[in-house]
Amino acid sequence: MTSRLDGPLKVTGQAKYGADNNFPGMVYGYVVLSTIAHGEIEDMDVTAAKSAPGVLGVYTPFDPLELRKPSSPVFGETWVPLQDREVTYYGQPIGFVVAGTFEQARDAALLIEVTYHARPALTSLPDGLASAEPAPSNEDITVLADDVESIEDALGASPVVVEATYRTATQNHAAMEPHSAVAVWDAGGLTVYSGNQGSDLQAGELAVALGLEGSSVRALNPFVGGAFGGKARTSAPAFLAAAVAKALGRPVKAALTREQVFTATATRAATVQKISLGADAGGTLIALRHDSWCSTPADRSFVEPTSHGTSREWYATQNLSISQQIVPLNIPPTTYMRAPGEAPGSFALESAIDELAVALNMDPIELRLRNNSIAPPGKDLQWSSKHLDECFQLGAERFGWANRSPRGRADGDWLVGMGVATAMFPALRFPATVEITLHEDDTAVVATSGSDPGTGLLTVLALVGAESLAIPADRITPKLGDSALPSGGMSGGSTGTASAGSAVMIAATEVIDALLALTSSPGAPFEGAELSYEDGRVLAEDGRVMTFGEVLRAVGRSSISATGSSAPGEELTKHSFSSFGAQFCEVRVHKWTRETRLSRMLGVFDCGRIINEKAARSQAIGGMIWGVSAALHEALEIEESGRLANADFAGYLVPVNADIPDVDVHFVKYPDTLHNAVGAKGLGEIGAVGMAAAVANAVYNATSIRVRHIPITIEDLL
Ligand code: MOS
Repeated sequence: MTSRLDGPLKVTGQAKYGADNNFPGMVYGYVVLSTIAHGEIEDMDVTAAKSAPGVLGVYTPFDPLELRKPSSPVFGETWVPLQDREVTYYGQPIGFVVAGTFEQARDAALLIEVTYHARPALTSLPDGLASAEPAPSNEDITVLADDVESIEDALGASPVVVEATYRTATQNHAAMEPHSAVAVWDAGGLTVYSGNQGSDLQAGELAVALGLEGSSVRALNPFVGGAFGGKARTSAPAFLAAAVAKALGRPVKAALTREQVFTATATRAATVQKISLGADAGGTLIALRHDSWCSTPADRSFVEPTSHGTSREWYATQNLSISQQIVPLNIPPTTYMRAPGEAPGSFALESAIDELAVALNMDPIELRLRNNSIAPPGKDLQWSSKHLDECFQLGAERFGWANRSPRGRADGDWLVGMGVATAMFPALRFPATVEITLHEDDTAVVATSGSDPGTGLLTVLALVGAESLAIPADRITPKLGDSALPSGGMSGGSTGTASAGSAVMIAATEVIDALLALTSSPGAPFEGAELSYEDGRVLAEDGRVMTFGEVLRAVGRSSISATGSSAPGEELTKHSFSSFGAQFCEVRVHKWTRETRLSRMLGVFDCGRIINEKAARSQAIGGMIWGVSAALHEALEIEESGRLANADFAGYLVPVNADIPDVDVHFVKYPDTLHNAVGAKGLGEIGAVGMAAAVANAVYNATSIRVRHIPITIEDLL
């Protein structure tokens, strides 16, 4: 176990986040937001704002900064502010005021008079269901046994059927570091300091937005104060600060306030999910139907794929039908949030499985294991490595599942219940390139652009680098978070370790080959000899040995470098890949006040090889706590007007330490080298999957009240 290398800097306040950067002559921007949910801006009177103290510029759709919409294979089109007068949600960026200080910019922004031509706004998911549309990227899927005509027939023929509708709330990422940027424009081009999930992706988006060559934009994000999908795309303050830095030729800092973060960035969609399960009396699934609806912004730019993210792959069933609809609303953009699809999808599916277990009078773990799949339904490709059964068995022992009664138990005034759920998240990786440089002092640098949004990727680079070069980790300097480095792609989709780690291994092979070639080259110490590499040293057949630093010094070089690239490939045609887990929790519901308190939770995960158990545990714990948060705390309340009723930490509840008891995490460690050479599968998101259902199932066990929406509140248990 290795403590993260950037930890001491973070906890002592020495880590410099984007907005911590200051430059001579720097000015400050304040983002102006719309106060209607739908309509056209007729006029913005900026006269008073322009003459307010310290103001250097007021930008609006009537006097815009020129920004083009970037489009990438990863994200599709990214919205850029101020380019038209259409308002499609309350809290949309519609202006940017730049002044000598933050306070001057904010004060001037308050002087802007906006006149709207308002149109009727649709802001509620239940009201919008009537105008649902098929999700563009998630086609309906039906898999039927040979002799079955339709999913309705399969359900009709099932001896036991459970059918229910589940709802999940809108959530905001609410990362500790609000979205912000410092942009500097000079002869070399643009440099942007802004917390983001991929420095080269951000540099690319900014280059397109400003019409610049890619080589003249550099994005730096060595520290990121939380992202969770909400900093995958470039943020409004980054686009605006960059454009003004170029326009004025001065460094510009822009940061959203906490309240602005809730609308001017993006959220997790609210969902409605209808599930029908058909089984035989022994608990074998005969049919699974999962129809989902999610909120989406007016531009239909994001789908929260709950049916496809869960029921598509989770259980062996002969008959499967899934569909995904979107409901366009006048709400802030929706986007990726930790386990997009799987997190809210698993609340519905794993609640329904629990309901089926009750209907069958069967243990919910036994029911899940009975329907364990060796391949996703309707696909020929078997899982490369799946130890879900072991996760459940180990978890049941560790958690004392045998002591659970189907009706819960009482402890004084508390009703105590235990719940369980499956967790899955696809094992993915993205293309990545890593550069390794060996130095004359026998140290090495492992570098890739990417980002470490708090996951521990920086430390993973050092650990995999040390292993690949067979030298101690304290001789490795990892570098990350600079678009000038070789492209590391995005920290997203739980891919960081598998993507960058695979590239580190290849880069190490390349740099060792280059080192051996150098050592045996004409005039070099071991000219013409057959060489091998071991533990940071070059070995000649005759027994001569030199460290790589000694070789470099002998030939008069300070360093030698090589890059290695890795991308998903042929393995995708051979297997299906996923991480797996079993989530357990115990809740106590007060008999009289009906408050729900979590008393214990455990996650047992099959995420392949674990590179750094300490960081891995932290990721799992963070995800599990987020699952509890979704189950008992978090909901963004959108008023009919489109205004958010609770866009701050007073109203938007997240758990505090007193809400979270002891968290137990265990990994079964089976390296999955069919997926990638490192053997690691993703673990950044799976912790958040299933836990909300485990909580709801525990609440049912304690109270016999089935709550089919989250968050679960006191009113639900009266
Ligand atoms: Mo994350 S939701 O994979 O960026």
